[in-house]
Amino acid sequence: MTTAALQATQPTGDRWLDITDPDVYRAGVPHATFKRLRDEDPVSWTEERDGRGFWSITRYQDIIALNRDFRTFTSEAGIRLEEMDAEELEARKTMMEMDPPEHTRLRRLVQGGFTRRTVQTYEDGIRTLARAVLDEALPKGRFDLVTDVARQLPMRMLGRLLGAPEEDYGYLVDRGDAMIGNTDPEFTEHVVDQTDTAEFRLMPFRSPAGVELFEYAQRMADDRRENPKDDVITKMLAPTMDGEPLTDLEFKNFFALMVAAGNDTTRYSMVGGLVALLDHPDQLQLLLERPELTQSAVEEMLRWTSVTMHFRRTATKEVEVHGRTIREGDKVVLWWISGDHDERQFPDPFRFDITRDPNEHLAFGRGGPHRCIGEWLARVEIKVLLEELRPQLDRLRIVGPAQRLRSNFISGIKHLPVEVS
Ligand code: HEM
Repeated sequence: MTTAALQATQPTGDRWLDITDPDVYRAGVPHATFKRLRDEDPVSWTEERDGRGFWSITRYQDIIALNRDFRTFTSEAGIRLEEMDAEELEARKTMMEMDPPEHTRLRRLVQGGFTRRTVQTYEDGIRTLARAVLDEALPKGRFDLVTDVARQLPMRMLGRLLGAPEEDYGYLVDRGDAMIGNTDPEFTEHVVDQTDTAEFRLMPFRSPAGVELFEYAQRMADDRRENPKDDVITKMLAPTMDGEPLTDLEFKNFFALMVAAGNDTTRYSMVGGLVALLDHPDQLQLLLERPELTQSAVEEMLRWTSVTMHFRRTATKEVEVHGRTIREGDKVVLWWISGDHDERQFPDPFRFDITRDPNEHLAFGRGGPHRCIGEWLARVEIKVLLEELRPQLDRLRIVGPAQRLRSNFISGIKHLPVEVS
């Protein structure tokens, strides 16, 4: 079975879909609409049902240029479409909602555990986790590639990295999903655009799961202060050279950010990437014949899936882009998913090509101060999973329909029945 139609990876079909409607993404990324915007309206205005509207930036080079200019396009007023008042912004603030220099201070405090070199030292641990996950799933013969495999690995890895006890991993995956999947009824009863979530407005993602993660993080912080360990959390909470460790609120927000940002993004990249491989048997064959292409295949999977579809900025002054006047206070959305399929940057962007070179994709952002902190971790996790699945890859079949997440923010397949024949 091919899932290409479900993934809507060809820019055919409706060119006028509502890019804000989470239901639209259940059928696939509206690539035809993004292509129209790139070609005909690269700085386009969209009205919102429950917001004040926003500008969409859809071309690769424009996205990078605006992302780089953080003085004109600030993150401090929020990085998602959702409107937040000053109190909400303050309570839910992570480094993502900061500009330099405040952002730089926080980023420095946490980035040590995620550098390319440090992450290389985790590779053996990731491989052990990947084998354990596959040893549980493969003997079933038929299983859900998302729930049984891709959902397990990133959170177990993150749990290990953060020093959470193993028995809590399931709980953290579940709460992380409820928080970030806040527009999908499968993951939460408190669907933000369908129920009244006012009482959770000061919590990450306006979600009650955010409350639980906050409490969990507070317990962890208290414990590490009393019993320091050799883990990332202890390092974050320790005073730094300039004497300022993370505050409790900063730590709790960072913890929730890790669970949200480091978890389902990697999961959906793995699944979307594997589906792309299975949908393109010639590329799968090429990978099997030339294992040295694995890293390059991972990059193409990341470009192809571009799981975090957008981030928002807010204009701090009036500015003109492609003849359109963006006013001070306007919301401006950078559509990474569109930039990663921009014909001006990627020759034949709807061809899945594991030899693509160069492949300077936007899956982790580019140009600005917020480039993904977990990019090396995500790359190693996807690569290791691919390597460990290798002996099964040409026997892996998709045997049922893919179910996509209901979200205009994260693009992902949340269930995919597969069989190893
Ligand atoms: C394939 C998986 C992933 C994707 C597609 C992804 C995507 C992104 C994107 C697009 C950004 C924003 C870039 C910008 O605004 O310029 C970002 C930022 C971030 N990501 Fe990731 N991410 C992934 C995995 C991870 C992992 C594994 C972690 C942590 C363990 C992580 C933690 C973060 C953090 C903390 C930030 C904010 C950085 C800052 O504000 O300076 N991400 N990610």
